[in-house]
Amino acid sequence: MGRIAYRCPATREALATGPDGLFRRDGALYRFLPRAQADSVPVPNFLDLAAAGDGQRASLSMYDTATATAVYRNFLDWLFATFGEDEAAWRRAMVARLALRAGDAVLVTGCGLGDDIPPIMDAVGAGGEVHAQDLSPAMVQAAAGQWARAGGMQPRFSVGDAARLPFADGAFDAAFHFGGINLFDDIAGGIAEMARVVRPGGRVVLGDEGVAPWLRGTDYARMVIANIPLWGREAPIALLPPTARQVRLDWILGNCFWVISFTAGEGLPPINPHVPHKGRRGGTMWTRHHGVLEGVTPETRQRVESAAGAAGLSVHDWLEANLRARLAEAGDVQAGSAGDQPSSTAIPKPVRP
Ligand SMILES: C[S@@+](CC[C@H](N)C(=O)[O-])C[C@H]1O[C@@H](n2cnc3c(N)ncnc32)[C@H](O)[C@@H]1O
Repeated sequence: MGRIAYRCPATREALATGPDGLFRRDGALYRFLPRAQADSVPVPNFLDLAAAGDGQRASLSMYDTATATAVYRNFLDWLFATFGEDEAAWRRAMVARLALRAGDAVLVTGCGLGDDIPPIMDAVGAGGEVHAQDLSPAMVQAAAGQWARAGGMQPRFSVGDAARLPFADGAFDAAFHFGGINLFDDIAGGIAEMARVVRPGGRVVLGDEGVAPWLRGTDYARMVIANIPLWGREAPIALLPPTARQVRLDWILGNCFWVISFTAGEGLPPINPHVPHKGRRGGTMWTRHHGVLEGVTPETRQRVESAAGAAGLSVHDWLEANLRARLAEAGDVQAGSAGDQPSSTAIPKPVRP
């Protein structure tokens, strides 16, 4: 058994292992694919065909047929010959973007024939753990058959939608995807799931077809897009989760494929919004966003700005002081306090216009 146990992709609850598959508490069963050999590691199938959208149906019609693996291998040979790359060396360089260490646990989504698995196994070593999943049972059967026991370790395989992963939050040190996300029904979900299952500080790398923006409009771009329309897609950089940090976007393979790499963070980027602005307007990022009141007439605005300048205060400090003074006069007992957010400057004495 590996360190990382499967969870229900819908409820995230732990699953029990039975002879035919993985069970949920309520009896729902995720069946194992038929085993290639009696001793092969079981491959659970989390595919929910009833929930499959157009993208999943299109992918299954392409990648889950009797000839799919041969057709795809043929495509890979064409692709790497077209761009003059050695596939194994190219995949090693792609995997290097994950900055893996010995013992790491890594997930590959949309693994296809699993050609990224050997360089990942080399990087994490026998003490690491590699999981690979794909929507297509045919691709997973082929990958599991080829990489069942390689490099002193046993990769684990599963079938399912990469936008609904059967793993707990933060289970992996890194996640990798190449070549399928353009066809996902839920691209943002596919990226968010990679980020979710990677621990904070772990690396996520994903890439797919999409000619670089500066090539659009050239005959080169028209030719490659005419050849495969998916190469006209754009990098989904705006779909990254707000937790993404140290984001990098670049283009590879004749600048016809984008690659996004990022570190999984927690929450929004750290920021101190209470640093006071020096100068005429004053206030802070916090007050300018959360403290906006109604507008006043242009004449009043101009008079307030003049009064603040004459008092040697920023407009923010002048308003804060005078409005609090007015509130105190009106009997508001909290008027002198700084409120529930820290004011980074002492509240100045009220100044009458
Ligand atoms: C072009 S192949 C890429 C395979 C492999 N990553 C590689 O680099 O050669 C795209 C793969 O994505 C898989 N795929 C498509 N939609 C998927 C989804 N929603 N979830 C998981 N895999 C998906 C397909 O079944 C197919 O095996």
